[in-house]
Amino acid sequence: MTKLAGLRLVERDAGGVDLAFRADVLAGLGEPQKAIPARWFYDDAGSQLFEDITQLPEYYPTRAETEILQTRVAEIAGLIGEGRAVVEFGSGSSVKTPLLLGACRPSAYVPLDIAGDFLRASSAALAEKFPGLPVLPVEADFMRRVELPAEVADLPKLGFFPGSTIGNMIARTATDLLRTMRATLGEGAMLLIGMDLVKDEGTLLAAYDDAQGVTAAFNLNLLARINRELGGDIPLEAFAHEARWNDLFARIEMHLVARRDVTFTVSGQRFAIAAGESIHTENSHKFTKRSGQMLLAAAGWEPRARWTDEAKRFSLVLAESRPARSAP
Ligand code: AVI
Repeated sequence: MTKLAGLRLVERDAGGVDLAFRADVLAGLGEPQKAIPARWFYDDAGSQLFEDITQLPEYYPTRAETEILQTRVAEIAGLIGEGRAVVEFGSGSSVKTPLLLGACRPSAYVPLDIAGDFLRASSAALAEKFPGLPVLPVEADFMRRVELPAEVADLPKLGFFPGSTIGNMIARTATDLLRTMRATLGEGAMLLIGMDLVKDEGTLLAAYDDAQGVTAAFNLNLLARINRELGGDIPLEAFAHEARWNDLFARIEMHLVARRDVTFTVSGQRFAIAAGESIHTENSHKFTKRSGQMLLAAAGWEPRARWTDEAKRFSLVLAESRPARSAP
């Protein structure tokens, strides 16, 4: 039977404030280089803006990854095998997930996402497309180990983490997450993961600072969310969206740069930022074949196969969970 009730695992205070959100924002705004983890972009408005980004002419990753799945899914499915529970880290996307589910004939589909409304909507759409497939959404922060529904306890798992979301974490956090995924998925798990590739700076900067200003709206929505959910009074018009290429770390950075000196309050705490200083809101690391394989290996995932799109802009890697062993 298809189940769409989901489980609720996000911790909130009596007033409904997400405790982890408040802790991250207050800590991040207190740092000398103000910074807020990118995962907080994704409230319902932010999730919708991100969907809009994926349709932009400048934002190639979604199209490139979809191209890989469209052209290579039979080969990918052959390596995965039938009957696994597909556990998607994030809500199912309208195109990529059905391509995978249609080809690898899973026994169940378990999307994990922190944005509950989005999760329920995308789960309902997928359940309609695949009648007979148990769809078991879990509202949870997948950065921590997640208890999967009992229905899939005995099934081998395939983790699906498309979109190069792994690139939104620094190496240390990415390694922690990949290890946590191994713990969530259990023994014998496989992982199909999207990793965006290093390429020319112009293409990268345009993808993160589009002409229509959708990425700017996505970035500024974080401040609107802070104001709404954490009782903030940040003047949005005092901040400008900026995308920067950091060559040393091979990453695009998004910042909100203060247009003037600003003081504001969040959850009763006062903060100040000088003109020209920024709040660092996102890293989007880009990988080479070697750096991608190294990251996976560091967390106990052994790459089995790797595909790129025709223009070599994006890669999809299939890896297998490996128990720790001593090696030279
Ligand atoms: C979700 N993540 C992989 C996107 C990226 O490309 O880093 C988020 C994004 N930020 C700005 N545009 C898209």
